[in-house]
Amino acid sequence: MRSELTSSGRVVAITGGGRGIGLATAKALLAGGCRVVLGDIDLAVVEAAAAGLGPGAHALHLDVTDDASFDAFLAAAARDVGPVDVLVNNAGIMPIGPFLDEAPATARRAVDINLGGCLNGMRAALPAMLARGSGHVVNVASVAGRSPVPGGLTYAATKAAVISATETARVEFAGQGVAFTCVMPSFTNTDIVAGTKGTRFVKNVEPEEVGAAIAAAIASRRKDVYVPAAVGAIVKLTPLIGRRLRDATNKAIGADRAFLDVDQGARAAYENRIAPASVPPQLEPPPGVDGER
Ligand SMILES: NC(=O)c1ccc[n+]([C@@H]2O[C@H](COP(=O)([O-])OP(=O)(O)OC[C@H]3O[C@@H](n4cnc5c(N)ncnc54)[C@H](O)[C@@H]3O)[C@@H](O)[C@H]2O)c1
Repeated sequence: MRSELTSSGRVVAITGGGRGIGLATAKALLAGGCRVVLGDIDLAVVEAAAAGLGPGAHALHLDVTDDASFDAFLAAAARDVGPVDVLVNNAGIMPIGPFLDEAPATARRAVDINLGGCLNGMRAALPAMLARGSGHVVNVASVAGRSPVPGGLTYAATKAAVISATETARVEFAGQGVAFTCVMPSFTNTDIVAGTKGTRFVKNVEPEEVGAAIAAAIASRRKDVYVPAAVGAIVKLTPLIGRRLRDATNKAIGADRAFLDVDQGARAAYENRIAPASVPPQLEPPPGVDGER
């Protein structure tokens, strides 16, 4: 019997779908009868991922920092698969370490992808959803956006902004048929946490657990999703206990050093992958155009 909470048949576009949480989400959605369109800046990786998923999965190039790329991605998804019912803004990078050691270009890249990509996605997808009077935007933020972790300053700031953007969009577009979900995973075993030790109290979760939670939220149109769910209760209680107790608790569980005591050797491949220098060069703007917008 078909459940009321099924999302079967929906077309779901997932950014950063080539690996990690995006790929695990695609698997869970395919198992639930959705069609998925994976977009990723790493075309070879996303094509291999979609091929591994089998029929129902499509791969496209996407750079979430580029409006034109996002428009082209959604247009190609609509043409090849069908109008996008759900957009999962999942693409993200996590540079970590002491803030004053972070190169400005690295911080800008994290802001452009984590926050800019999410804003670009909503700007690109919402007009068609609003015109249809139905749709769903799922923004993947992080528990880091609700709970300060030293060594994750820029990352946490981008994720706090995504939480705020999702809530504001929910209010701005209320009553027009479009749902908004904010997903806040804790440490999840993907490349992003390479070389980190996690915390002593909350065990790292697997990307499949986050993917299953996102698939369930798409079916139920749930507003806030914490993975693991218990972290949500902790995050909500934290403001009540005060900063001093919060900081002592974070120290007791090792969260105060989680992004500072890092095995750089184990992390090198990830840091190289996300380095601004590894991004294909963009076309230079014509003379005189720079700075006019
Ligand atoms: N892993 C965790 O511990 C964790 C915890 C909380 C939140 N998150 C968030 O979950 C999301 C997915 O992270 P993950 O752990 O699966 O990371 P991941 O590195 O395994 O996957 C991220 C994917 O995004 C793609 N990507 C990067 N820049 C892009 C761009 N400009 N355009 C399109 N695609 C781009 C990468 O190529 C990669 O395939 C991120 O937003 C991350 O911040 C992760």
